[in-house]
This record gives sequence, C-alpha cells and structure tokens, in this order.
Amino acid sequence: MLSSSVLTSTLAFAMLAATERAAAAAGETVGRGDEQAADAAAFGAMHAALSGIAMAGRVVIGSNNREGSHLLKVGDILGRGEAPEVDLALDPLEGTTLTVKAKENALSVLAVAPRGGLMHVPDIYMEKLAVGPGFARDVVDLDAPAGENALRLADAKGVNVREITVCVLDRPRHEKIIADLRKVGARVNLIGDGDVAGVIYTAKPETGVDMYLGQGGAPEGVLAAAALKCVGGQMQARLAFRSDAERARAEASGMKDINRRYHLDDLVSGEAIFVATGVTKGGLLDGVRRSNGVVHTHSLLMSSFNGVSRTIRSTTPVKD
Ligand code: FBP
Repeated sequence: MLSSSVLTSTLAFAMLAATERAAAAAGETVGRGDEQAADAAAFGAMHAALSGIAMAGRVVIGSNNREGSHLLKVGDILGRGEAPEVDLALDPLEGTTLTVKAKENALSVLAVAPRGGLMHVPDIYMEKLAVGPGFARDVVDLDAPAGENALRLADAKGVNVREITVCVLDRPRHEKIIADLRKVGARVNLIGDGDVAGVIYTAKPETGVDMYLGQGGAPEGVLAAAALKCVGGQMQARLAFRSDAERARAEASGMKDINRRYHLDDLVSGEAIFVATGVTKGGLLDGVRRSNGVVHTHSLLMSSFNGVSRTIRSTTPVKD
C-alpha cells in the first residue's frame, strides 16, 4: 500500500485491528437483546485497541455523539501521544439494534484523516444523497425531488429508471421520498438501520444499489463520506434540524454555515482511511464467527490516497 505523508499502511492496519476487536467483542452480544451491553463491549474493545497505537488520535466523531458511553468521547486524544497527529471518526457499533436483534448489517467502523480533515458535526440528523463513482459532478441534486434524481441517474447510466435501485432507511419520515421514487418506477431497497453501509452500497456494484437517499445521523454521514472518498463516489448532505435546541448545538459545535449543502470534500477535506468489520452478516461483509478458539472476522480496508479497497478475513485466537 502506498502511503500519504501521515496515513501509513502501519496506521491503516492498526485501525483494522481496532474494528476487528470491537466487532469481535460486539459479536458476543448478537441476539441477546441488551443494547447497553453491546455498545459497552464494542466501545471498550475499540478504546483498548486504539490506546496502544503510535499516534495522537483526536476523536471528532465519537461517543459524545451517542448516549451512554464514557469512552471515545469527542475531543479525547487516543494513542501513545506521539506522531502522527490524526483525527478519528468512529462508531464501534454502527447498528446496535441490528446487533441485539441478530439482524443483518451491523458493522464496526472507523475513519482516520490528517488533523483537521474530518468535519465536526453534532449528533443530529443529516439529509444525505450519495451515488457511486463514474458520474459527472452533481449528476443528482440534494434539492431535487427523489423521483427526478432517479430519472437523472437512469439517464446518466443509459438505462430505464425501472433498473435504478435506491437505498432508503425504512422510517415514516421517508414516506414521501419512497412514494416519489416508486411513482417514477425506481426500486426502493429499504434498510432497517445502518446508513453507513447504505451509502457504501452505491460504490459496490455487486449490491445492486445505485443511489442512497434520506435522513440519518450526521456522525454516520461523515463516516460514510470517508468511505466514499476512498472509492470515488459523490455525496451531498445538509444538517436537518428538528428543534431550535438542535440548531443551537450545531452553532455551538463551531460549524461555520450550518444551513449549507456540503459535498464530499467538505465532509472529508483531505486524504482518509476507512475501515469496517462486519458484526452481523450484511450486503458488504460477513459477520463475526467464533469457532475452535478463534474469532473469524471479515473487514473492508480502503484508502483514498491510492484508491485501494481490500476485503480482509482474519482469524484471531480468543483469550478467555
Ligand atoms: P446506531 O449505531 O446508533 O444503532 O445507529 C443506527 C442508525 O440506523 C444509523 O445508521 C443511522 O444514521 C441512524 O441510526 C438513523 O437514526 P434513526 O434510527 O433515529 O432513524
């Protein structure tokens, strides 16, 4: 793997070990119905792994964005405190509900960038629109109706809109988007949770997803943008406020223009590494499996500076 000046392959594989450990720990909680235990296991394992790495890693997306964990808080500096100085966006368990219900698509995810490279966002909703690589800039438009975007993408691909599949979180707030997409003839792939994976699907032709659309967590938006930065897709996003209090939180977080539409390069301004390990089986990765004293994990490791995307299977001895 080539490396940028700050993001080295040593750092990338250390990050991979961190999502592997978090996923393995979360794997023990799959199907057990206890969200707090699942988060605690994943956060604890990722914290332990990151603490031993040679870096000064500042958390910009972390547990202040989520209720209930005192580890991996926004502003914490992780690692052994030496160079390189990097920013971290992490979600040790993206899809807590999926995990404890043993449903598909839970991941442990982490992105790393040189200091200042990842946007700081509060834990509120964000409108998101993403497509994979290979299209003219702004082939779709966050401010256009959903159906029009499906038609524009079909046109750009040279296919009938009936061949376009749009991934959307299955939420009542998306009723209008879903109806609009179906009205023009597009397929809608409804997911229960996990829009980081939903955005990445657009860059993986084998998933059959052409576009991601809808409101989800803003922290997950930055993580997904880091992934797309590595594989070359496009993303547009805007914070979605449900109250004045949320608006005030965004202002307090130091963001310059909280009403702006952001593009991929605003969310992730320079180079990035993105890693994800499957907790439960999903469209991108297999889930964690434990057998004969080892844990089997399946991960994605991607870097923007060389465009390389690897899937990695690891077996790690279990220490009981
Ligand atoms: P968790 O990791 O907190 O379980 O989040 C899962 C998730 O589905 C995200 O992928 C998504 O961005 C967000 O929740 C959507 O929020 P909501 O469930 O409130 O619609």
